[in-house]
Amino acid sequence: MNIPATITPQMIEAAPVAPLVVARNVHKSFDRLEVLKGIDLDVSPGEVVVILGPSGSGKSTFLRCINHLEAINKGSIFVDGEQIGYRLKNDRLEKLSGNAIARQRRKIGMVFQQFNLYPHMTVLQNIIEAPVGIHGESRKAATENAMLLLDRVGLSAKAGSYPRHLSGGQQQRVAIVRALAIKPKLMLFDEPTSALDPELVGEVLSTMRDLASQGLTMIVVTHEIGFAREAADRVVFMDGGHIVEQGRPEDVLGKPQHPRTQAFLSRFI
Ligand SMILES: Nc1ncnc2c1ncn2[C@@H]1O[C@H](COP(=O)(O)OP(=O)(O)O)[C@@H](O)[C@H]1O
Ligand SMILES: [Mg+2]
Repeated sequence: MNIPATITPQMIEAAPVAPLVVARNVHKSFDRLEVLKGIDLDVSPGEVVVILGPSGSGKSTFLRCINHLEAINKGSIFVDGEQIGYRLKNDRLEKLSGNAIARQRRKIGMVFQQFNLYPHMTVLQNIIEAPVGIHGESRKAATENAMLLLDRVGLSAKAGSYPRHLSGGQQQRVAIVRALAIKPKLMLFDEPTSALDPELVGEVLSTMRDLASQGLTMIVVTHEIGFAREAADRVVFMDGGHIVEQGRPEDVLGKPQHPRTQAFLSRFI
């Protein structure tokens, strides 16, 4: 190996960073319905990837495979260097135990279209439930962290409120905080604003934009083209279980190359 005498800033800049997410040839079927037909995607640490695509193209299924809410049929998914759902033992892949899968999921926060907060728990109780109940954090540390996170999204005054007393936008911001409370390395968002009244979409997108600018690694499925344009490092267009096109937002959104991407985006103009 040739080791250079001096390391320049340019060389550091150009040094490859190990991707946080590596998806290789991911296939997923439900019975005979093939939903994912070979997805390849790498996501670098700190990168914000927005996935666009028509309904039924497999976007939610792909996100659910990343945190093993669905088992894949073929291919592999690695997050932070660990293969999701499996481990290599004596050269063979072995399914992980429930506990081991739970440990892997700790690195991955997920926010859904439906916020699914526990109605009988306050905002604070919702947020500290997983860190304390599942991950064994002390109540004090979890509460301190929860309050910091709530403050970041402007909701610390709501810590003692029940979800039903919050607007949809506030509930979704609490759901985001709840996902962040386990200190994930990766956040998955599945149409986080689709169930909201239009006037509440902005506050949730603004929270997501803040997270993106703070360097959190995010994969976001959304139809919010404006968010994709402003916050994404990369836009991925999925159709029929394939990634059809991907690139910088200005390229994919401004000059889509594939007829399917063009047809999809023409609906938003
Ligand atoms: N649990 C499931 N069982 C059977 N079919 C499913 C299941 N989940 C999703 N599908 C089907 O997989 C296809 C892709 O769904 P989905 O990933 O939700 O697409 P998208 O999120 O892009 O709208 C759809 O045809 C859907 O009906
Ligand atoms: Mg979906």
